[in-house]
Amino acid sequence: MSNAAGKIIGVGRALGSRVVTNHDLAEVLDTDEAWVVERTGIKERHFADDDEDCATLAASASKAALAHAGIQADTIDLIVCATSTAPESMPSVACLVGEAIGAAGVGAFDVSAACTGYAYAASVAHSMLKSGAARRVLLIGADAMTRVVDQKDRSTAVIFADGAGAVVLDGGSGESGFVDHILGADGRMAPLGRAGHPGTENKLYQNGREVFKFAARIFPEMVEKLLARNNVSPEEVQYVIPHQANARIIHAAMRKMEVPEGSVVVNLDRFGNTSAGSIPISYPDIFGSFEPGRYVVTVGFGFGLTWAANLYRI
Ligand SMILES: CC(C)(COP(=O)(O)OP(=O)(O)OC[C@H]1O[C@@H](n2cnc3c(N)ncnc32)[C@H](O)[C@@H]1OP(=O)(O)O)[C@@H](O)C(=O)NCCC(=O)NCCS
Repeated sequence: MSNAAGKIIGVGRALGSRVVTNHDLAEVLDTDEAWVVERTGIKERHFADDDEDCATLAASASKAALAHAGIQADTIDLIVCATSTAPESMPSVACLVGEAIGAAGVGAFDVSAACTGYAYAASVAHSMLKSGAARRVLLIGADAMTRVVDQKDRSTAVIFADGAGAVVLDGGSGESGFVDHILGADGRMAPLGRAGHPGTENKLYQNGREVFKFAARIFPEMVEKLLARNNVSPEEVQYVIPHQANARIIHAAMRKMEVPEGSVVVNLDRFGNTSAGSIPISYPDIFGSFEPGRYVVTVGFGFGLTWAANLYRI
């Protein structure tokens, strides 16, 4: 098979500097360690310091990914960043990253699809590589969710956190790279979750139960569809990297799928829900064990409502 494009040649992540445990939150909110662990699976998360934001985290993750790939920033010819928490409406986070890493002059834009952002942006990056419009893409997922969450709202303050992940994608065709994507959105469900821009009083609201039910249904549906239409068997899947929203969503979905036990990547116990950051933040822990010829499925879902999944051949 040689229809893949966008081989991952470097991965990196950056998390907010402040580690916040459930115990820390229980000191300022009417919550407790047991509730948060049992209902969400989260034990601790990282919050950005005052001098950090979505763009600084995205830039740090990008520098780490470039160093890991062993390449110079001037070999990148497109920057795509998935985010919903850019510090300002303009400029885009991708532009700020370009400046920070020394890749000014190349194409740079953001993709907005809430927690599904990375999975959407991966499909865009793949298309650009496949068409020949770009040869090497810096693909980022980054969010500073503390900037849009009401830290006095216990139902959301315990879940969301700050972090960014970046990958360097190389080449327009080859054995390894993205192969296929599913994208979906249904604006009729927009009232189930929304948030204003950072710095405004319009804080994040979600109907947690409805979002939960939707995510637990759409996640396995997408994986099954993606594998079936590409004739990939569940045993060929080495990793499923889901958006890290809630451990119960992930486990409910896994029970409905036939992918090998242990293939699902879970790190929300350490990082919480970093929205568009949550999938690419996962790569540094698993990239070194990638087995050529097998597959990685990345699965996003979130406000919009939006959903998307990507099939990547290692
Ligand atoms: C938010 C979420 C963790 C809440 O869990 P839940 O089991 O559905 O809990 P509910 O919202 O039904 O609340 C149950 C009770 O716990 C309480 N509760 C909520 N947050 C709490 C907290 N941090 N500590 C203690 N109790 C809490 C509620 O007030 C409610 O109390 P009540 O029954 O007296 O009214 C869960 O719905 C979820 O994760 N949904 C998915 C959301 C998501 O992924 N969003 C991101 C978009 S991808």
